[in-house]
Amino acid sequence: MTSRLFPLGRPVPREDLVGRQDFMKNLHNPLSEGQSVMLAGPRRVGKTSLAMEILRQFQEKNYDTAYFDLFRYNTKRALAVAIIDACAHIRDGTGESVRADSCTSSLRAEMNSEERDGDALLIESFQLPERIAREGGRRLVFVFDETQEIIRLAGKPTLQTIQERFQHHTSASYLFLGSPFATVGTSLPMPPIAVGSWQKYITQKFNSKDIAASERLVLEILTLSGGYPQDTMLLCTEIYSAVLEEGASALSMEYVRVGYERTQTAMAIIFDEVLNHLGKTPVNRQVLVQLAKNQRLYAGRQHNPNEIKRAVDTLVTRMIIDKTDRGSYRFLEPMFKHYLIHRLA
Ligand SMILES: Nc1ncnc2c1ncn2[C@@H]1O[C@H](COP(=O)(O)OP(=O)(O)O)[C@@H](O)[C@H]1O
Ligand SMILES: [Mg+2]
Repeated sequence: MTSRLFPLGRPVPREDLVGRQDFMKNLHNPLSEGQSVMLAGPRRVGKTSLAMEILRQFQEKNYDTAYFDLFRYNTKRALAVAIIDACAHIRDGTGESVRADSCTSSLRAEMNSEERDGDALLIESFQLPERIAREGGRRLVFVFDETQEIIRLAGKPTLQTIQERFQHHTSASYLFLGSPFATVGTSLPMPPIAVGSWQKYITQKFNSKDIAASERLVLEILTLSGGYPQDTMLLCTEIYSAVLEEGASALSMEYVRVGYERTQTAMAIIFDEVLNHLGKTPVNRQVLVQLAKNQRLYAGRQHNPNEIKRAVDTLVTRMIIDKTDRGSYRFLEPMFKHYLIHRLA
């Protein structure tokens, strides 16, 4: 592939992490004081990218760190074993390279992991980071990504026990990503990336390939993408391909248009999925489409006002829309709005 200029489909390397400098400071303070933070946000806003950079910075300061993507574990036992192994590495001072399958740790034997019941093992394993931080005087930051998956892995009672115990963890720090998992620490929404930061980044990237990018066109790109992280990167990638195909040396409105069309086509699969998920409650989908088309929400008789209100709240909680100062609603992804208007019958 030619267009590797704008990173996509993986956490971005630190030099491509746009506009998160200030926000990162808000995360550093609580985490370095043994507090935990929940970063709430939908997919593709850059939670994992941000967490990776945070972990890197803590590693530089000699913290012990570990990262768990809950999506990757099929069973509670597998997750428990991964946590146990990570803690064993830290306790035994074998470095921060943490892999679930990489060792048969003494801790694992200690915890009788083969014989113990999965729920008990999971509850115990979640106690380990705190134990190690406290007893070993270590400074730990653990990231749990895709935390909504815990519901699939552990039943409600187990989850509740884990959450209750977390309240007493004051030495180990956790960064949770996804949707609410533990009711400890602060919960922060992912802030939007400032237009100025994007502008500078996009202009420099094109310029680094000897492609001129006028301020007007860069702003046009950002209007189309709304600065939504993945949409912006994909749009830039598609525009870059279009420019390369023609061997051009400057962006033009035409390349932006072609890039936008291709981006919409590529995003349709993802948007279908979002819609599919929401469509399980029909009123959600209906309200969403009405909002996209600027139609009045409470005019129809099909759903009662309470149902409609609840649907709006769901869309806000899922960070698909947010409320503007003027009391109307705005799509966080203008491309999703475009898709709802133009690609649905
Ligand atoms: N701060 C950022 N700057 C630039 N691009 C970003 C940023 N955050 C995310 N992206 C883009 O969004 C994509 C998804 O990011 P990721 O961190 O995986 O999101 P999440 O974990 O929220 O699903 C990345 O591959 C990249 O293209
Ligand atoms: Mg992620």
